[in-house]
Amino acid sequence: MKKQLHKGLKSFLAVGVAAGLILGAASLAAAGGPIKIRFSHVVAPTTPKGRAADMFARLANERLKGKVEVQVFPNSQLYTDKKVLDALSSGSVEMAAPSTAKFTSWVPQLQLFDLPFMFKNRKVLYQTMDGEVGKKMFKLLGKKNMLGLAMWDNGFKQIGNNIREIRKPEDLAGIKFRIMSSKVLEAQFKIVGANPQVMPFSEVYSALEQGVIDGQENTWSNIYSKKFNEVQKYITETNHGYLGYLVVTNAQFWNHLPTDVRTELENIMKEVTAWIRENAYKINQDMKQKVIEAGKTKVTVLTEAEKEAFRKAFKPVQAQFRDVIGGEFIDAVNALNAKN
Ligand code: SIN
Repeated sequence: MKKQLHKGLKSFLAVGVAAGLILGAASLAAAGGPIKIRFSHVVAPTTPKGRAADMFARLANERLKGKVEVQVFPNSQLYTDKKVLDALSSGSVEMAAPSTAKFTSWVPQLQLFDLPFMFKNRKVLYQTMDGEVGKKMFKLLGKKNMLGLAMWDNGFKQIGNNIREIRKPEDLAGIKFRIMSSKVLEAQFKIVGANPQVMPFSEVYSALEQGVIDGQENTWSNIYSKKFNEVQKYITETNHGYLGYLVVTNAQFWNHLPTDVRTELENIMKEVTAWIRENAYKINQDMKQKVIEAGKTKVTVLTEAEKEAFRKAFKPVQAQFRDVIGGEFIDAVNALNAKN
């Protein structure tokens, strides 16, 4: 009974909020003021996502001058990624681009993208995003009143820590690693005897500095732009898992935008998505070079045989999450892996 009342209240609030959002957009438009779009994210403006969000805002503000005003809030200025999804549904922000891992409690199937060594190469990744799998994932988001506008790229993750150089999976045992809130990432570290700990991105630097955690996994661009290399003795280039984003908005808000505005924003989103695909890899490589040049951490590059040992160690995570993620999704990616 209590549960039902709670559910009822939740839907009531959702409808109220949705109505507020629609009225908000409509009344602003009617009053002649630009429709405000707040885009909240957690990374630095120099990263692939940071640059893409700024590009989206710049193009929207130029091409829809007077109609739309996009403002980007980077570096968790407004919300951490987990909280931003609530903020999006309550209308406190209009756009966000959390990593797939941050959707775990909303759309657990999206953890497909977190599975270690799931994607053979970038080609498979893009074919997955653009094909049936991507379309179905977007549909799942729709059920939560979120609208997926695009998938944005960052890159593959590396493993850093302060305890020892990592050359083989056994080296990870006993190390306390910060992870994003994904059960897949938790399993990935547990399977090799490490201790995963969920923590917002904004707290990682000080947690490393103060020894609250021993290590973390992230892309070169996130590592360098947040100076994680300055508070970690060792980083191993494992490329073991992917970090990518879903650009999301509130479906009610988006669908009630004037048609010309919505169409132009969707066109701009396509342009920015093409840009990030072309540039994310290069940005990460540049930042890897900067980490090496800074000389504050030992960077270890694995041989093919060493990489294979990590592949083998992490492989059982795929089977472990088959039911949660959906066998059809995992099989579809493996079919692409076989073809490419
Ligand atoms: C991000 O790239 O948005 C942050 C990823 C993280 O939380 O590690």
